[in-house]
Amino acid sequence: MKRLNVETKEKTYPIYIGEGIRYQVKELVDKQSLTYSSVLIVTDDNVAPLYLQNVIKSFASSIKVVHYIIPNGEASKSIEHFYNIQTFAIEKGLDRNSLLIALGGGVVGDLGGFVASTFMRGIPFVQMPTTILAHDSAVGGKVAINHELGKNLIGSFYQPILVLYDTETLFTLPKRQLLSGYAEVIKHALLDKDPSFLQLLKSKQVNELFSDPTLLSTVLTRGMTLKASIVKGDEKEKNDRKYLNLGHTLGHAIESETNYHFLHGEAIIVGMLFSIFISERYYKKDLGYQSFKHWFEEIGYETKLPSSVSIRDLVHRMSKDKKANGALINFILLREIGQPSIVAFSQEQMRHFLETFFSE
Ligand SMILES: NC(=O)c1ccc[n+]([C@@H]2O[C@H](COP(=O)([O-])OP(=O)(O)OC[C@H]3O[C@@H](n4cnc5c(N)ncnc54)[C@H](O)[C@@H]3O)[C@@H](O)[C@H]2O)c1
Ligand SMILES: [Zn+2]
Repeated sequence: MKRLNVETKEKTYPIYIGEGIRYQVKELVDKQSLTYSSVLIVTDDNVAPLYLQNVIKSFASSIKVVHYIIPNGEASKSIEHFYNIQTFAIEKGLDRNSLLIALGGGVVGDLGGFVASTFMRGIPFVQMPTTILAHDSAVGGKVAINHELGKNLIGSFYQPILVLYDTETLFTLPKRQLLSGYAEVIKHALLDKDPSFLQLLKSKQVNELFSDPTLLSTVLTRGMTLKASIVKGDEKEKNDRKYLNLGHTLGHAIESETNYHFLHGEAIIVGMLFSIFISERYYKKDLGYQSFKHWFEEIGYETKLPSSVSIRDLVHRMSKDKKANGALINFILLREIGQPSIVAFSQEQMRHFLETFFSE
């Protein structure tokens, strides 16, 4: 089992990464010297039949444990599910000393974390990520639900007390979800000043990576370490944490415009490629755009837009992004690989870049 620390102003909390640690949840929670009156496990209907009982059993009837199962998928990050979980928790008699465990992917983590941040003004929570993507979402304390006008528009910063990443759970993920999550690993490598992370990823076939538990755990630990180091310096996203949005301004717009037919990671791959494309033009440098495009396509990612999506609508979405600044769209570029920057573009400039990019 590996251990990393996430340091924030309020507290430092551990991330444990290891195979089979879902059987030791109580033991690892109790190391945090926290007293809690009951446990609410939030999970989804794909994860529940696979891993819920393992987690419940780890508490061995030492304490009241209740669970709430949401339908899988992005649509569950809604005000309705948020409200229903609160109702369930109140009806089950949970109090402000209860502990919430979010067992699942980014959807469960974001929704469960947001419930924890508001139930009785905030109760402690544990992130138990079960997807590759959630190696990212479970670290850093961003919790949110979606508004029908946009993703993650209702939320807060709320750090878990602990992250437990049982990498054995990743072996039941469908290939498409593995690849979607892998996009965030690639993002972390693109932001890492140390080029050996990206070199490692480029040197491995994804099938090799997803079938080798040691290699997978090494790669995910590197991603989480990078994320934790950025969060440490800027918990509330005033400065460097913004760089973690590499690929996300366009990515979120693609997710929304395709009604989430593009998964999160699939959309940010297009966003990251676009960012490299603009960066080369803006900084007049060769960052290897063609070889990234080739690599992404070889992995199996789509780099084109479906014909149903218009550039005009994408620009409109991007201008509504949380990171937009009045009429300008803030965009994460790369001066070099591993050296992100933020540049504001007008909607007209953005439209022009998008037209050139998608006509390539
Ligand atoms: N808070 C953050 O910092 C942050 C960062 C990145 C992404 N996110 C959010 O994360 C969400 C996406 O997360 P995700 O990709 O994990 O999606 P997800 O939670 O929807 O999980 C993907 C799918 O895999 C299934 N699944 C989960 N674990 C499984 C397992 N071990 N075996 C088999 N199936 C399993 C789920 O039921 C779901 O169908 C988005 O809502 C995104 O906005 C948040
Ligand atoms: Zn993301």
